[in-house]
Amino acid sequence: MDKIEIRGGSKLEGEVTISGAKNAALPLMAAAILVDGITEFDNIPDLVDIKSIKALLEDLGAVCRGQGATLSIDASAITKLEAEYDLVRKMRASVLVLGPLVARFGSARVSLPGGCAIGARPVDMHLRGLEALGAEITVEHGYIEARAEALVGGEIYFDLPTVTGTENLMMAAVLARGQSVLRNCAREPEVVALAQALNTMGADVSGAGTAVITINGVEKLHPAAVSVIPDRIEAGTFMVAAAATHGDVLVKECRPDHMGGIISKLKQTGCSVEVIPEGVRVCSTGEIQSTDFKTLPYPGFPTDMQAQFMVLMAVARKNSVIHETIFENRFMHVNELQRMGADISISGNYAMIRGVEALSGAPVMASDLRASASLIIAGLIARGTTRINRVYHLDRGYDAIEKKFSALGADIQRI
Ligand code: EPZ
Repeated sequence: MDKIEIRGGSKLEGEVTISGAKNAALPLMAAAILVDGITEFDNIPDLVDIKSIKALLEDLGAVCRGQGATLSIDASAITKLEAEYDLVRKMRASVLVLGPLVARFGSARVSLPGGCAIGARPVDMHLRGLEALGAEITVEHGYIEARAEALVGGEIYFDLPTVTGTENLMMAAVLARGQSVLRNCAREPEVVALAQALNTMGADVSGAGTAVITINGVEKLHPAAVSVIPDRIEAGTFMVAAAATHGDVLVKECRPDHMGGIISKLKQTGCSVEVIPEGVRVCSTGEIQSTDFKTLPYPGFPTDMQAQFMVLMAVARKNSVIHETIFENRFMHVNELQRMGADISISGNYAMIRGVEALSGAPVMASDLRASASLIIAGLIARGTTRINRVYHLDRGYDAIEKKFSALGADIQRI
């Protein structure tokens, strides 16, 4: 089991290039199921989660080819319409194959994705949405069975803006007969990227990025070339790390227009964040100012940046309050940060943080993807050595993260 060891104290300086977004690539690769032909991708990140969905698509009969960041998926020979438990349990975003399978083949059997460290992660809105499009859904023995002679356009109203729920139903509706209107949709850039890709494949989707998405069903989609947008959470992670280490880092190949919530919060901590043609330059010389924040659906402050930002607040001048409104259990990193000397108390979905002078290195345990990233940032600024166990969480969502940090001057290595 790999571990990561960090000796704290180095300032991060230099340039880092951001990889393609995990949470854009996953729905885009699922969308290839809709096409009776080959879909070409570039800027695919090299992540465990990408390998997982590739394995799932190949198990269905798709043919994946490519090396590095380019990938082609030939979905013309899909014969199997079942996403098995062993593949889905590795990554709950596998549920994204449900909508495309029902849309193109009229049936699908997908293992219920389990919960994960951060919460129960139900998919009730995905299923209710498919029923609104005429699918018959049964859930038994841990599997979702969905059937529909042909999906028919309908009205869908999400109880709350679910990211993969919006993506799943968008992919289901593009081949439904007639018009579908999805309301209270997620507005994330990854949702917009999927809508744009579907339209290049011949779909008719409008309104993505707003709360109301209108889709006029079409007969079939055709092959297209899709480029994956940069990962705003990876970019945000490096920006927060630069601020925490009082460094000076240029984050390249990112989309500042996808990071408004992160950039404005970072500026409130007193560090300078400059948007320049090459990317975003973050440098911090003075003290870190405390600031409160709550996680919200996009364009609010992203829950996937909560753990990373908490480290910054742990060594800020005064006290701050963090309110996690998206997931019911996303403070798993707090115990580990407390072991490193952070002064944090939890009450429900609120974390009260009192800034301390410095953290101290310690052996810590990663619990989920973004919590692991926060432990790296804590290790970078702590006095002494930090050893992070269970780094397989990191490899799910970060492409060679320790190499990127060491290129910025961090004393970090995988053991
Ligand atoms: C997506 O998860 C992301 N994953 C998550 O990133 C991200 O944290 C999350 O959106 C919120 O931004 C991918 O895009 C692959 P939701 P998703 O449906 O779609 C509840 C990471 O680190 N809900 O927007 O699963 C749910 O429990 C991951 O990269 C229902 O109740 O999140 C949660 O409380 C972690 N019923 C809230 O909605 C449903 O049917 C928002 O979840 C669906 C969701």
